Amino acid sequence: MANAVIAGMQWGDEGKGKIVDLLCPAFDAVVRFQGGHNAGHTVKFGDRHFSLRLIPSGLLHPAMTGVLGNGMVIAPDAFFEEVGELHAAGVDTEGRLFVSSRATVILPWHVALDQAREAERGDAAIGTTSRGIGPAYESKASRMSVRIGDLGQPGLEARLERLAGSLGAQLRALGAREELDIAAMAAQCREWDAALEPYAEDTVHRLHRYVREGRSLLFEGAQGALLDVDHGTFPYVTSSNTTTGAAATGSGVAPTALDGVFGLLKAYTTRVGGGPFPTELKDRTGEFLRQRGNEVGTVTGRPRRCGWLDTVVARYSAQINGVSTIALTKLDVLDDLDEIQVATAYRLRGETVRELPGDRQDWVDAEPIYRTFKGWKTSTVGILGFEELPPAARDYVRRVEDEVEVPVGLVSTGPRREETILRDLPETRHLLGEGFTKVLAERQGS
Ligand code: IMP
Repeated sequence: MANAVIAGMQWGDEGKGKIVDLLCPAFDAVVRFQGGHNAGHTVKFGDRHFSLRLIPSGLLHPAMTGVLGNGMVIAPDAFFEEVGELHAAGVDTEGRLFVSSRATVILPWHVALDQAREAERGDAAIGTTSRGIGPAYESKASRMSVRIGDLGQPGLEARLERLAGSLGAQLRALGAREELDIAAMAAQCREWDAALEPYAEDTVHRLHRYVREGRSLLFEGAQGALLDVDHGTFPYVTSSNTTTGAAATGSGVAPTALDGVFGLLKAYTTRVGGGPFPTELKDRTGEFLRQRGNEVGTVTGRPRRCGWLDTVVARYSAQINGVSTIALTKLDVLDDLDEIQVATAYRLRGETVRELPGDRQDWVDAEPIYRTFKGWKTSTVGILGFEELPPAARDYVRRVEDEVEVPVGLVSTGPRREETILRDLPETRHLLGEGFTKVLAERQGS
């Protein structure tokens, strides 16, 4: 049995929720390892529609265990709200949802600082999700944060006092007047601690037990490679490593236990918030993609910026994530276009470059060099076999494989689980093992 990672290859919102949900029958547990409730994973499960932010999408499958790993930043109120939504929908979480005691707690103070900073940045705002993600990771890096396991501990007040000293000073510098109430926050933390009792543990040991027992783990990444704090379009990035190395550090499972990576690539590109986006379309085609692809942020409700597929970005993502096979999503959104473009290189300072530059000015200066494809102008929704795709759509997929140098193992042609092409390739077989047939059966049967 294999352990696989799901990684976004663009700026997030590649459709990870649906693919995780589809692949679950081949795995025993699903693990989140970075980020927090800035992520928004949309899953259609039967007739129901779920927007999950913190809890791994796979938990909708009754046989799956869900783990929120040590690399995450967790706002307890957001966690309880989501658990409540699942319970209201009849999804039982008892004995199958676990939160790492080493994970970092997002306090309302972090949220206040995130919002105050964004307001102060004005036009240069990053466009964060206002969930306190960045300030919480900063508290972790400065070794001041409260962790899930600290919430009920005797040293809590002293930790909060130190944290309030640092966050309070930053908030005051940004114009905040209110004092941070340490006693009230301590009382709140103790309440959270009691409510987290059925969920919190040192999940590293559970995961190692699973690996020893030969159970298969699916690591559910959030956001995308270009939002990675090291590899993304800095400073317009999130504050965690969103790439696959973080699956190990953010869960405590060794990199040697990971067998491969599903790279999620949308058939066009979107991004939310500020920052460079070489293939962005600010015209009618961009608006068409936004409408047809329903490109509105799950967490913030913001319209997403839309543009053509960029294989310079995809190649880079495939390399740094070690993508074994691509899941190409939302191909059907392109169905009605007369022409489709794909950037395969950039023109930069008079040169043609195929490798993604790492410099912030270069991202702004880079002019995409496009290859134009004829549209297929027929519906691909719900097509199950690769050979049944219209020839022009097959050409498009093959071109992606050639440019990125990674095979496309899945093609998503609609939001539902059954609207997916699963190709019988060595790479998909390797990652799904015997589960390949289970995934096929579940896709057909749902
Ligand atoms: P933060 O993660 O809230 O700090 O936001 C930093 C940047 O990451 C902003 O551009 C957000 O729009 C973006 N971002 C964070 N989470 C997601 C996501 O799940 N999908 C897409 N963009 C995201």
